[in-house]
Amino acid sequence: MDKYIDLINQTFDFPTEEFHVEDDQMIFNGIPLMEIIKEYGTPLKLTYLPKISSQIQKAKKLFRESMEKLNYQGKYTYAYCTKSSHFSFVLEEALKNDIHIETSSGYDIPIIRSLYEKGKLRKDTYVICNGYKREAYRRNISDLLNDGFYNCTPILDNLDEIDYYKEHVNQKCRLGIRVASDEEPKFEFYTSRLGIRYNDVVDLYLNKIKDDAKFELKMLHYFINSGIKDTSYYWSELSRFVHKYCELKKVCPELDSIDIGGGFPIKTSIQFEYNYRYMIEEILRTIQRICKEEGVPEPNIFTEFGIFTVGESGANIYSILDLKLQNDKELWYMIDGSFITNLPDSWALSQRYILLAINHLRKEYQRIQIGGLTCDSQDYYNSEIHSFQVFLPKITKQEPEPLYIGFFHTGAYQESLSGYGGIKHCLIPAPKHVIIDRDETGNLKSWLFAEEQSSESMLKILGYK
Ligand SMILES: Cc1ncc(COP(=O)(O)O)c(C=O)c1O
Repeated sequence: MDKYIDLINQTFDFPTEEFHVEDDQMIFNGIPLMEIIKEYGTPLKLTYLPKISSQIQKAKKLFRESMEKLNYQGKYTYAYCTKSSHFSFVLEEALKNDIHIETSSGYDIPIIRSLYEKGKLRKDTYVICNGYKREAYRRNISDLLNDGFYNCTPILDNLDEIDYYKEHVNQKCRLGIRVASDEEPKFEFYTSRLGIRYNDVVDLYLNKIKDDAKFELKMLHYFINSGIKDTSYYWSELSRFVHKYCELKKVCPELDSIDIGGGFPIKTSIQFEYNYRYMIEEILRTIQRICKEEGVPEPNIFTEFGIFTVGESGANIYSILDLKLQNDKELWYMIDGSFITNLPDSWALSQRYILLAINHLRKEYQRIQIGGLTCDSQDYYNSEIHSFQVFLPKITKQEPEPLYIGFFHTGAYQESLSGYGGIKHCLIPAPKHVIIDRDETGNLKSWLFAEEQSSESMLKILGYK
């Protein structure tokens, strides 16, 4: 029978840019994972910081080259959407690349201030404030503007939001309006609840913004929930949005930018194919064509990529604790973690990740189900994107070294969704978190960001201490 490594070699175009095998062990972005496991143990979450910067540079380069090729007249600005990972090490790495920030909560603003105090961002950094805003968020935005963060740009999400800024902001203030896009046809709702109806946008400007010298409407914003995809739905929503931009521009001369949201995908399978360059060029061509038809200058473009920025920097590594054959066919590999609590998207959205064994690669492979530690029957992982099954090396209960497996590209949203450091299903703790970086000479260095969550921290949250 074939070995696990032969299966990988035959199924995919392997090795890849990110994964290869050395001394029978899986290497991820040049990181010898077995060494990390030996040093820190499992369960383990790792963040490989250089990937964050290389992703940002990749997008900036593609936009730059595409704009040059098409002689596009507007400028491109990369903003990072903090909600995909709020960790300080993520933001600090991202901000090394001359980028800007998109926020979604009042609690983001103290993060902005902390980064400013550390000298990681400047007062001219664009802070694009999205979301439905309770009073504290509106207040924090107003305070930020009054303290001289002049490129902080509240994106109006409803018709009344501006009333608060009229009362509380005492500086010149850039504004954006988010329009409510229509959802993908297969979705349960027709129109997004986020943003302002297309038909209300021009009236909002004319009635509440135009004659107020304090405010300048600079940006029209939209976000396509299902991501930037080459589908007729995506292109028709983009066209509708750009037409609205042109209509507004004709009555609002200071308007000069569009924000096309997030939604660039990442590799969730080794076989992933997505032509980033083609998509960027098509987006630019669409905007150019419509602006030309309407006789309007091409707008500056902002993006707010979350998953794309941080997703591929993360990995979750587990040991196989036990094997359980529960009937003649169904063999379970039990991990020292949980899908529901550590990788909630795998449970809630059936999100798949790149899954690879890290050692025992020359063993035969077999079909298994992977089980998490909670008592919930839904805490399992048993399919991959390319096949509705999972294969891992065949091990026995008596292996001298346990089998280690990795779920890769798990860097976005998982901690925020699972409530990092909080109380989770069956009190499964967050795994320890290790950061990996490279020094000036390119050598790897790693350090522990956080130990596995302690029982003391849980007792405190639950009121026992
Ligand atoms: C307004 C807005 N911008 C950007 C993003 C980031 O999307 P992604 O992580 O898919 O790039 C989101 C995600 O929900 C969003 O709601």
